[in-house]
Amino acid sequence: MAALPRLFEPMALRGVTLKNRIVVAPMCQYSAVDGHATEWHLAHHGRFALGGVGLTILEATGVTAAGRITPGCLGIYDDGHVEGLSRIVDLYHAHGSAAGIQLGHAGRKASTRRPWDGAGPLDPDGREPPWPTLAPSALPAVEGWHTPKALTKAEIAEIVDAFALAAKRADRAGFDVIEIHGAHGYLAHTFMSPLSNTRTDEYGGSLANRMRFPLEVVEAIAAVWPQDKPLFYRASVTDNAEGGLTVEDTVALARELKARRVDVIDCSSGGIAGSVSLQMVLPKPGFQVPLAEAVREGAGIATMAVGMITEPELAEEILQSDKADLIAIAREFLSDGAWPYRAAEALGHPDPFAVLPQQYAFYLRRRAQSAKS
Ligand SMILES: Cc1cc2nc3c(=O)[nH]c(=O)nc-3n(C[C@H](O)[C@H](O)[C@H](O)COP(=O)(O)O)c2cc1C
Repeated sequence: MAALPRLFEPMALRGVTLKNRIVVAPMCQYSAVDGHATEWHLAHHGRFALGGVGLTILEATGVTAAGRITPGCLGIYDDGHVEGLSRIVDLYHAHGSAAGIQLGHAGRKASTRRPWDGAGPLDPDGREPPWPTLAPSALPAVEGWHTPKALTKAEIAEIVDAFALAAKRADRAGFDVIEIHGAHGYLAHTFMSPLSNTRTDEYGGSLANRMRFPLEVVEAIAAVWPQDKPLFYRASVTDNAEGGLTVEDTVALARELKARRVDVIDCSSGGIAGSVSLQMVLPKPGFQVPLAEAVREGAGIATMAVGMITEPELAEEILQSDKADLIAIAREFLSDGAWPYRAAEALGHPDPFAVLPQQYAFYLRRRAQSAKS
């Protein structure tokens, strides 16, 4: 019998065992209504649940209404949001996959149009009116975008509380994993980056001060999130910009996160200034893998690699060479919901059909056997 590829080795994180190392990365669907999940979300996630993923992390979900990126983003700021989210969780659990949710606040990049409506800030005369945005400092993400209001300390505390409330609701919805969105120019990242944080109080200036907000969020979540459920943090490991956040800064952050019970750092990059999708334009396969490797080595914490990982062989090599512990894939899943099956075939999994549900596997296995005989 051939050995199991590393990609298909289970991974235990606290009380949750992922059946393999394949993760669907968070992907905004812009298809929610007042923050509520819709039929679209069920169809979309159903594909991945049937496709055999170990874990899916649901799209950036606003912990407050104002913290949504667009009016079509999911929210978890009301108890009424829990039921729709729990239906998505149930889909995954029914197929042996774990479900995570990315909790976020979009900060100065909130109140924008859906990408297919041209992205950028919502139009004051449009059908969906803009709302006031919030950030550590009153600096727009891009010239001409909303100028956010600089948060007062009392407002910072309210947002930290909103993250904790959201975490309680995520637990009630049955999620196995919370990922805190600390990347792509949204609120937590704008506190971290000197390019967007020019505060002179204890939330700005030194790295220790710039870390304060994300660490407060993690502490507030850790206080209410069950001990046996893992916590992930998505970081923009570097701003890729002069005077911006560096890999060393993120390694220091990762050490502090680890001390506060974060289990995995999901290593992305960029997005501090510019459009929401900036971080997606870098073309090279695996371009962010060195970031996952640097954080893993520097902070001694498990990492998830993401970004232009489309080929099973690359995914397997990243794991085999201990550069990361999990592989997250976004766009490739849009065209191939059964990517894990494709990977199992390509990597010589001893029984690739076992990755799929019996309703599919039975017939595909039989077809393969009859083709051989
Ligand atoms: C449609 C779409 C929506 C996305 N939404 C999110 C999101 O909600 N949160 C996030 O952290 N990243 C988001 N991303 C970024 C992806 O999670 C991922 O980091 C990026 O697309 C690179 O991975 P890929 O090359 O496999 O697509 C999104 C990407 C796409 C294509």
